[in-house]
Amino acid sequence: MKGFDPIAFVKDDGLIIPEIGTWGLQKYKLMGAYCDIFTSGMRKQWEQLIYIDLFSGAGYAKLKQDGRIIKTSTLIATSIPNKFTKYIVGEFEGDKINALKQRAELCNNGVNIEYIQGDSNKNINRIIDAIPKENNALRFCFVDPFSLNLEFETIKKVAAIGRVDFLILLALQMDGKRNFHNYIRDESEKIDKFLGNNNWRDPFKRGEIHQKDFMKFLADTYDNNMKNLGYVVDPVLKYEVKNDEANVPLYYLAFYSKSKKGNDFYKKIEKYQSPQQKLF
Ligand SMILES: C[S@@+](CC[C@H](N)C(=O)[O-])C[C@H]1O[C@@H](n2cnc3c(N)ncnc32)[C@H](O)[C@@H]1O
Repeated sequence: MKGFDPIAFVKDDGLIIPEIGTWGLQKYKLMGAYCDIFTSGMRKQWEQLIYIDLFSGAGYAKLKQDGRIIKTSTLIATSIPNKFTKYIVGEFEGDKINALKQRAELCNNGVNIEYIQGDSNKNINRIIDAIPKENNALRFCFVDPFSLNLEFETIKKVAAIGRVDFLILLALQMDGKRNFHNYIRDESEKIDKFLGNNNWRDPFKRGEIHQKDFMKFLADTYDNNMKNLGYVVDPVLKYEVKNDEANVPLYYLAFYSKSKKGNDFYKKIEKYQSPQQKLF
């Protein structure tokens, strides 16, 4: 696929720059290519195209392996040739969102960005207030947490607005698999909130599902949750990203749309961006 390249190298500007592994590049290629195809393919049919980034980061990241610095999600989404009409970004850390603001102002040809600092799960009503609700608005929501600290209630509220496509990083291996022993304890609320269900432990406690199948259980339950909201669930819309040095699975990037066109766009870009393994 020719045209927009989501991977843009930039110079150190002295502001905060989190470090990432090179496997992050796959995520940026995929989300950037989707933003590009989404705005170029939909701008004639929809008056408003909205970008929502619930875990936005600082706008730049440094590749651990070679020290190069690249633009990250929000700045990739503001760099596409056909811009979104509005950007709404949430980020927990003040120094990151301030750096993002300064970087966006420098490179941004006047795009409309609303910044909401703090926990996006807790701030979700403020985020929802910022999202245009008109029927002529089509939305893309990128959800990129480090761990499973994404509450299903948050996704449900965004989905309830109207037409929204989601690309969600599911940290099933990075967090889920490694921390089963913590999450199975009744006092841990993380998975309860991630799945929006307090009874998920029951089949594990009864021995009907084995610990080794925890990751698959999380992925299937998440898919069911999305299906219940009216989203299409299809294994081809999910990719496993691995640590490319150790060949260890890290997370899945899961795409959910209610529309055939959204799903077709995603399949098309996946073909060209060649991320790694399909899920299960
Ligand atoms: C994996 S990084 C992703 C950053 C960015 N999307 C990118 O493209 O690199 C996750 C970001 O979410 C932020 N974060 C963690 N918990 C959060 C929360 N509850 N609400 C909002 N942001 C959060 C972190 O500070 C971090 O910057």
